Amino acid sequence: MKTLLVTGGAGFIGSNFVHYVVENTDAHVTVLDKLTYAGNRASLDGVPKERLGFVHGDIADPAVVNSLVADADAVVHFAAESHNDNSLQDPRPFLDTNIMGTYTLLEAVRRHDKRFHHISTDEVYGDLELDDPQRFTESTPYNPSSPYSSTKAGSDLLVRAWVRSFGVQATISNCSNNYGPYQHVEKFIPRQITNVIDGIRPKLYGAGENVRDWIHANDHSSAVLTILERGQIGETYLIGADGEKNNKDVVELILTTMGEPAAGYDHVLDRPGHDLRYAIDSTRLRTELGWTPKFSDFESGLASTVEWYRNNEAWWRPQKAATEAKYVTQGQ
Ligand code: NAD
Ligand code: TYD
Repeated sequence: MKTLLVTGGAGFIGSNFVHYVVENTDAHVTVLDKLTYAGNRASLDGVPKERLGFVHGDIADPAVVNSLVADADAVVHFAAESHNDNSLQDPRPFLDTNIMGTYTLLEAVRRHDKRFHHISTDEVYGDLELDDPQRFTESTPYNPSSPYSSTKAGSDLLVRAWVRSFGVQATISNCSNNYGPYQHVEKFIPRQITNVIDGIRPKLYGAGENVRDWIHANDHSSAVLTILERGQIGETYLIGADGEKNNKDVVELILTTMGEPAAGYDHVLDRPGHDLRYAIDSTRLRTELGWTPKFSDFESGLASTVEWYRNNEAWWRPQKAATEAKYVTQGQ
């Protein structure tokens, strides 16, 4: 893969992936990103100029997508509206980007016969009971709960249809919740870290019993590169690192890591339709493609993420006040 087109490469996981690819391969990367509220060009600072192209544009714009896909060897598609809470306030951008944007990319890779990897989420499978011994696998039926997860599910199904009907050379991955550097302060972990830095008490939705299966963004990147290089066309791979934790435990760990009392948080209004538990069985990716995660210790991964937010205030500060103001209007 000499030239990769990475959509959403100025977002959280996309930018981590661009850094990972540039450090671990000799590929040239072109990023296509609309720079929505969630995109930040500064997340790509430090990538050598000769290895990176940046195009400010929309994945739902057929003209820009067509010309960029024609010039790429492969497309890795991260761009999305990604936040559940926003999808509950205003679903429309989720349909435009996650559905129409993915459709536009699929038509371009079909026309130019290019390899396509679609990034998705475990949230397409709905949620699990806390005591359910099962975890999600590649054959779990789709059952999304929110406008966000239903548009991601719809985009996955488009990819599957384009593989079957038109022979598009695509793979799909569904990953669990990511943490790490460059994550927008609207998301759970960076919101609480930056709250503590600002002297605001962390905010836990409802009782805080909901479980998420945390994976470091660096491990997500290594898994995506593995699938891109060795995945079987037409197949889906689940990505997870056995990182199940409930939200209360994560908030308490953030507080103690940052030198605060573990009980120093507030319970706030719960999210409507709040998924109870996500859990990934990534056996297929590990056994068939030989992938293993490196950040198996959540406590040390979280401590280095706290350090990153302490050291990179200039990166997140411009978004913080508006994000908290929005949450206040939602009672959260
Ligand atoms: P993010 O919101 O941080 O970044 C999204 C990026 O896409 C931003 O740079 C934004 O500017 C860009 N974008 C949005 N609409 C666009 C459009 N129409 N055209 C071009 N660019 C556009 O999201 P993220 O958390 O990095 O998620 C990336 C992908 O990974 C998404 O597809 C998401 O569904 C998936 N995913 C995320 C997680 C997670 O924990 N964050 C877990 C599993 C899967
Ligand atoms: P989030 O980062 O929004 O990811 P997702 O909705 O994709 O899982 O939220 C992670 C979990 O944290 C989820 O159960 C909702 C909860 N949460 C809080 O308790 N407080 C918060 O301030 C936020 C943003 C999320």
